[in-house]
Amino acid sequence: MHTQVAIIGAGPAGLLLSHLLHLQGIESVVIESRSRDDIEATIRAGVLEQGTMDILNESGVGERMRTIGALHHGVELSFDGKRHRIDLTELTGKAITVYPQHEVIKDLVAARLAAQGQILFEVSGVALHGVETGKPSVTFIHRGEEARIDADFIIGADGYHGVSRASMPGQEQRRDFQRIYPFGWFGILVESSPSSDELIYAQHDRGFALVSTRSPTVQRLYFQCDPKDHVDNWSDDRIWSELHARLENNDGWKVNEGRIFQKGIIAMRSFVSTPMQAGRLFLAGDSAHIVPPTGAKGMNLAVGDVKLLARGFEQFYKQGRDALLAGYTDDALKRIWRAEYFSWTMTRLLHTFADATPFEREMQRAELANIVSSRAMATALAENYVGDF
Ligand code: PHB
Repeated sequence: MHTQVAIIGAGPAGLLLSHLLHLQGIESVVIESRSRDDIEATIRAGVLEQGTMDILNESGVGERMRTIGALHHGVELSFDGKRHRIDLTELTGKAITVYPQHEVIKDLVAARLAAQGQILFEVSGVALHGVETGKPSVTFIHRGEEARIDADFIIGADGYHGVSRASMPGQEQRRDFQRIYPFGWFGILVESSPSSDELIYAQHDRGFALVSTRSPTVQRLYFQCDPKDHVDNWSDDRIWSELHARLENNDGWKVNEGRIFQKGIIAMRSFVSTPMQAGRLFLAGDSAHIVPPTGAKGMNLAVGDVKLLARGFEQFYKQGRDALLAGYTDDALKRIWRAEYFSWTMTRLLHTFADATPFEREMQRAELANIVSSRAMATALAENYVGDF
């Protein structure tokens, strides 16, 4: 098989890139280790920044997002028994949409297949070759047969555990930056109407909690936990009493209970790996960087990488110039480091660190008090949250 751009990974980064390239008349093939059903059902993040909404709309895959997604104009911060609204739209003119990542994936898979795009699911044994030459290739097993794609470029959009980052030439020059947090998030899906019209980020001595939504009948709730804990240690009763304790407030508002139909624990890390390009191989999304979920930036960063790559390939194929592709690492990192900063700030601001001194705990509360009483500080948070940077 031959194509212009071989894309490893059918997540938001790989699929959106394939879609944007198609709109410019550039061919690509996407390969994915999981099945279509699996990628379309896996529950991941849910917040789309304004810029992510814009690119989905502009590229013609925003219709379901506009109908099923929920447009939010604010978020709430809860601490010391009070909730405080940050008016995102008043402060920035922008908004966010809560629309789960697997729905974005469904929309992109449907668009690619409708355009006769090639996505090969359930491939295994993926290996990259000739990345430093002008003729790279990818080999893999598909439906029991050995297969090979010759391409002009390879995109590694195969996530943190994928083969692409490890296959980059020049591993001696690779620089990784990492922080692992001493806590995780316990996430549940609940059958009930939303407790709140907007997301609530709650700081509490017992630990962070987050009230999010998925649909008019499903809530997504999280609370800080030990990353080594097990879901079996958490009965439904224990989960509800913990959530009520952390979300308690003085106006009588309570989180709606309902049947819990999914439980899971996610680890939290900040990670950036540079460079994001070596020869004809480019990394996009989680294969190059991870953020803790507190800032809701993960999928949005993947989309940011892909926008740069789509412009770079357009310039390469239409004008025969590679300036944008050559500047990819530097251009992408500017946005990535700012999102890393915001995600780390939100994590530090809202979580309980077991080793924090009493002084540090007071500083955390004072910072929250500053944010909700200073328009300037609230604006900075809002700009970062909607991705206005
Ligand atoms: C989610 O709904 O899954 C979600 C929302 C906001 C976050 C993280 C996750 O910051």
